[in-house]
Amino acid sequence: MIRLEDVFAENKLPETEVDRQYYFIQVAKDIVAEKETELGRKLTFCVNTFGCQMNARDSEKLVGILEQIGYVEAESEDADFVIYNTCTVRENANNKVYGRLGYLHNKKKKNPHMMIGLCGCMMQEKHVVETIRKKYLFVDLVFGTHNIYKFAELLVRALLSESMIVDIWEDTDQIVEDLPVERKFHFKSGVNIMFGCNNFCSYCIVPYVRGRERSRHPRDIIREIQRLVADGVVEIMLLGQNVNSYGKNLDEPITFARLLEEIEKIPGLQRIRFMTSHPKDLSDELIEVLAKSKKICNHFHLPLQSGSSRVLQKMNRRYTKEDYLLLVEKIRAKVPDMAITTDIIVGFPGETEEDFLETLDVVEKVRFDSAFTFIYSKRTGTPAAVMEEQVPDDVVKDRFDRLLARVQEISQEKAAMLTGEVVSVLVEEQNGQDNTLVTGRLGNNAVVHFPGDVSLIGQIISVRLTECKGFYYIGEQV
Ligand code: SAH
Ligand code: SF4
Ligand code: F3S
Repeated sequence: MIRLEDVFAENKLPETEVDRQYYFIQVAKDIVAEKETELGRKLTFCVNTFGCQMNARDSEKLVGILEQIGYVEAESEDADFVIYNTCTVRENANNKVYGRLGYLHNKKKKNPHMMIGLCGCMMQEKHVVETIRKKYLFVDLVFGTHNIYKFAELLVRALLSESMIVDIWEDTDQIVEDLPVERKFHFKSGVNIMFGCNNFCSYCIVPYVRGRERSRHPRDIIREIQRLVADGVVEIMLLGQNVNSYGKNLDEPITFARLLEEIEKIPGLQRIRFMTSHPKDLSDELIEVLAKSKKICNHFHLPLQSGSSRVLQKMNRRYTKEDYLLLVEKIRAKVPDMAITTDIIVGFPGETEEDFLETLDVVEKVRFDSAFTFIYSKRTGTPAAVMEEQVPDDVVKDRFDRLLARVQEISQEKAAMLTGEVVSVLVEEQNGQDNTLVTGRLGNNAVVHFPGDVSLIGQIISVRLTECKGFYYIGEQV
């Protein structure tokens, strides 16, 4: 029988954080092995991701640790350990989690061994944790974004105690390298280059739940990518809330453009993507690097948020409509086939019809290859939440529909222009509906389905786009 006080005895705990976590992985492994013997079967887990790519990368870290401990991944939430890695960027992301927790509770009533864990951005909000403590007593483990590297340690606590374990930190300056991670795809991977955000756009909760901006050391990033490539990865996505400000807070500052140049040199790596770029920090140096690079994909995600300079100022975005248009012009002058995609928020407090028309005007001028459109969602604690003139729902809905219709028309027209071309495609998976087809992704991030078998998965091949179906293509291998 493994006991909590023995496991946490001071003389047993290794000194460095990474050794400490490997120690807890071993302890958890022993506990899980005991449970397996008791039950006569393996224990299973399911990690469900609700948020962005960074959230997804965090989930891969959880999965890496769970697999080392001996848990086996389950196909569904019928598992012994279910974790929700939550998002709180918009209210509906929140509601989804509460809704699904009720459903998990029913499962737990049928499986007394079941454990439920909650982590991610939503858990960094005090009112959420209070609600969980009061109304969702069946949850076993709650932790946040800053202490995710302590997952093995927290899991040991949860496994050895009867009550709910809650551990949320306000912030951290730690970046713990070299913990296990298990990739969802064997041929592509996200790579964090920085954590947190310092921008405080007035509508956005991310800086409050992800903490201050911290860049990883370039040496650690390069080493991680080299290892990934040695392990079969051909495409990486560099992740950060504002990659254009990468490296500014390092002891030896380095720019994002320089980092890209270093990454480009890694032999065997074929494709480089990155997100997200904040327009205010997009440098000419970066555009030069994009123009020269053979590996960086021709896809630039450049969130606009609004086309009205007045609204942009209230959003604290620190660029104007004209600045944005100029950036697009500069990118296209150097890299004419660069696909440009964006995020747009409709219904920010005080947005007038004129402001909205400015947004439509940018959409017409830039002709985005695709755009994610969002209805403004009030996030408690952000400056915009207390701004006056919140826009009525029906007005927002009407603007949203008009914007979406136009954005979709343009993106279909743009997509159609590539019909007939031969493009290079990374084959990602077998088609879900028709198993004679595989699905691949173009450099510009569009998707193509074409006849092929699973042996192609993970390869970069040439495909002719024979037909454009609006948002995707049908093709043939050439
Ligand atoms: N760091 C990125 C964005 C991360 S959040 C950037 O600065 O571009 C992803 C997108 O969610 C944002 O681009 C924005 O369009 C949207 N978003 C963020 N907060 C929102 C809110 N309160 N309501 C609606 N959409 C929001
Ligand atoms: Fe949010 Fe702005 Fe930071 Fe993006 S840059 S995460 S929108 S605060
Ligand atoms: Fe990502 Fe959502 Fe957090 S967008 S950073 S998971 S609030």
